[in-house]
Amino acid sequence: MIKKTAEILVTGGAGYIGSHTCVALIQAGFMPVIVDNLSNSHPLAISRIEAITGTRPAFYKCDIADATGLGTVLERHSCAATIHFAGLKAVGRSVSEPLETYRENVCGTLSLLQTLKSRGIKRLIFSSSATVYGGAEHMPIPETASIQPTNPYGHSKAMIEQILQDLVTAAPDLGIGVLRYFNPVGAHVSGEIGEDPQGIPDNLFPFVSQVAVGRRETLQVFGNDYDTKDGTGVRDYIHVMDLADGHVAALQRCLDTDGLFAVNLGTGQGSSVLDIIKAFEIASGRPVPYEVVGRRPGDVATSFADPSKASEMLNFKAKRDLAQMCRDAWNWQQRNPTGYANR
Ligand code: NAD
Ligand code: UFG
Repeated sequence: MIKKTAEILVTGGAGYIGSHTCVALIQAGFMPVIVDNLSNSHPLAISRIEAITGTRPAFYKCDIADATGLGTVLERHSCAATIHFAGLKAVGRSVSEPLETYRENVCGTLSLLQTLKSRGIKRLIFSSSATVYGGAEHMPIPETASIQPTNPYGHSKAMIEQILQDLVTAAPDLGIGVLRYFNPVGAHVSGEIGEDPQGIPDNLFPFVSQVAVGRRETLQVFGNDYDTKDGTGVRDYIHVMDLADGHVAALQRCLDTDGLFAVNLGTGQGSSVLDIIKAFEIASGRPVPYEVVGRRPGDVATSFADPSKASEMLNFKAKRDLAQMCRDAWNWQQRNPTGYANR
């Protein structure tokens, strides 16, 4: 049993999910050691983690592929485990720039794994994605569904999952948790940290909140002719703090148990685009004007998790409902109308 005060290396810890997970880690008694190259995040996130928790995590501006820099960090801190968030996540860009996605995600992770091996760090949690299931035929999606990604981003996640499986086969004393997230949304209830996309948001939630706050005029709804209850796409939205709690639960298991496990982190509930618009209007008291346009290439009609494995294996269940996801996203948006900084 590893003591709860253990230091945990958190790659990408200044980013959206990483910063919320650092809050949950500190509140659970762990000490995050953040390594982030700030390619998609802002250093203010570190001060905001401190504002929420009263603890300032160690922070190093460093790329995961910089073995020397990372080696120096790991000489200073004796980390019991790694939570690995760092990587590129934009699906569209992965299609237009596949080499960049494979280099950052796959080569970056290989370099990280080599450094961790040389330092004897044997416990790892990896951020995978529901996107590895591609267009799954049956809902809800269990972890046993076939892995059939449909874009380079999804392939990069599936490749890393395979590499981790091969590592555990070669060294059964490793402990690795693969977490397949569904759609993380919302923000910490304080409004100190939240999602801060650069440029035009690709994802529904940040777009809706930017429309509500008046930064953008109209939401485009990508298709209302799907085979769903109202014709718009259905997804499994999970509050980012529930996701963060899921990481703490997964970390606790992976610290105590050898081998690899892969679990979905979702709620098991599907919400349509129109459900989200309505819920956001109620939470914000603002209208969210929208127009229906054609389908977005590559989108599936419906995706939601079978969350039972996480419940049985990790004793983890998402607790926060859609109303709270919208309230917290809106609180963050209002307090930080242009994100962490005027970029
Ligand atoms: P994010 O972009 O906010 O966070 C990623 C962080 O990693 C950023 O702070 C970025 O600066 C950093 N980073 C990127 N490349 C790096 C490198 N080479 N070295 C060091 N730092 C680097 O993204 P997020 O939404 O917090 O996602 C975290 C992880 O979860 C990613 O791996 C993503 O693929 C995965 N994921 C995200 C979602 C989602 O919808 N947000 C869904 C499924 C999976
Ligand atoms: N949508 C709109 N208008 C928008 C944005 C999205 O109508 O401006 C719709 C989409 O068509 C979809 C739903 O809102 O029906 C959700 O779309 P998102 O882009 O928010 O989320 P996705 O399910 O497409 O994908 C996200 C991440 C992926 C990740 C996946 C599962 O972008 O990287 O969740 O975790 F793999």
